[in-house]
Amino acid sequence: MSNEKWFEALLFQLFFVSLAVNYTYSTREHLYVRACAGLRRYKYIRNMIQKIEKLLSEIEAFQPATAADVEAFRIKILGKKGELGNLMEEFKSVPAEQKRELGQRLNHLKTVATERINTLKEELMNAQAMNASKIDDMTRPGSNEQVGSRHPISIVKNEIVGIFARLGYTVADGPEIEDDWHVFSALNFPPEHPARDMQDTFFIEQNPDVVLRTHTSSIQVRTMERQKPPIRVICPGRVFRNEAISYRAHCIFHQIEGLYIDRNVSFADMKQSLLYFAKELFGEQAQIRMRPSYFPFTEPSAEVDVSCSICGGKGCGVCKGTGWLEIMGCGMVDPNVLKSNNIDPNEYSGFAFGMGIERIAMLKYGVGDLRLYFENDVRFLNQFESAL
Ligand code: PHE
Repeated sequence: MSNEKWFEALLFQLFFVSLAVNYTYSTREHLYVRACAGLRRYKYIRNMIQKIEKLLSEIEAFQPATAADVEAFRIKILGKKGELGNLMEEFKSVPAEQKRELGQRLNHLKTVATERINTLKEELMNAQAMNASKIDDMTRPGSNEQVGSRHPISIVKNEIVGIFARLGYTVADGPEIEDDWHVFSALNFPPEHPARDMQDTFFIEQNPDVVLRTHTSSIQVRTMERQKPPIRVICPGRVFRNEAISYRAHCIFHQIEGLYIDRNVSFADMKQSLLYFAKELFGEQAQIRMRPSYFPFTEPSAEVDVSCSICGGKGCGVCKGTGWLEIMGCGMVDPNVLKSNNIDPNEYSGFAFGMGIERIAMLKYGVGDLRLYFENDVRFLNQFESAL
């Protein structure tokens, strides 16, 4: 081999050796740098995990004495500059491949902390409420509960319904806004008949007329439409009349009307039923008398007076010296009314009666002014507390 060639081969070899050395060193260095960075990152993440674990055991061990302790703890952990907030800040620098696991750990920490704090708060609040309701002095007199009472109109209504229920009457109800037929026409008040003036009403619409009912006789008409005789109903309800308000009249008041239809019902049956009613309501000594009267829907008709329960019939201020108090109207159902309601007057007869509840209550309780029933003055209403 010539010198020149040998030299050439040497150079060639050197080139390869340097290549290999270079390669080895660069890789090593690279590996070293990578290893160092990995170690730092590992420490950083381990550190975060440790912090999370520490907080979790702190939360579990926390035993507050007051609600204020819980609040302070909440601020420490969950507050704006709290421990969780700090960890979230650190979380921003966590490399992408570890974000998932650490994120889950942080979320878990947040849920555990929130739940524990809420439970502790609730427990302490309940305990506080229990303490507040503890009676420290067992001999202390009880506090008086304010119990409401029934309105006198309801008391008297219930009593009247009870009396007639014992005679076999059932209660019927109907609308307060009625048509002309049920309030007037079906009850033998033809249009333009002067008897309509007895009950001036409030019209809601005209032609066809829609009115506020002036009496609960409209419920009796509705009962006759629905039911075949025998009929025995009592109809309590609110009624309306166009009347000036005074101590003895109001544009709203309450009525109870009754209707009894069957075969062979006589005036004597009516008289005996009403006497029984008066004795039940006003006492065994009560007597009734009947004076002839007029209603379009009954024939014959009568006003019923009861002996004055204040003076026992001798005459006093309440009965204006007569010994009698007017309590209701009544009569035998007019055959025209039966016919209007498809009941054969040759087969059936009946009686009807109607009374104002305010008036009966005034007599029963000695109330001098009817307006008191509508004013809701507790000084008046309190006086009926003992009644049922
Ligand atoms: N409906 C009559 C009224 O309100 C009362 C009454 C009823 C009279 C039944 C007789 C028979 O004035």
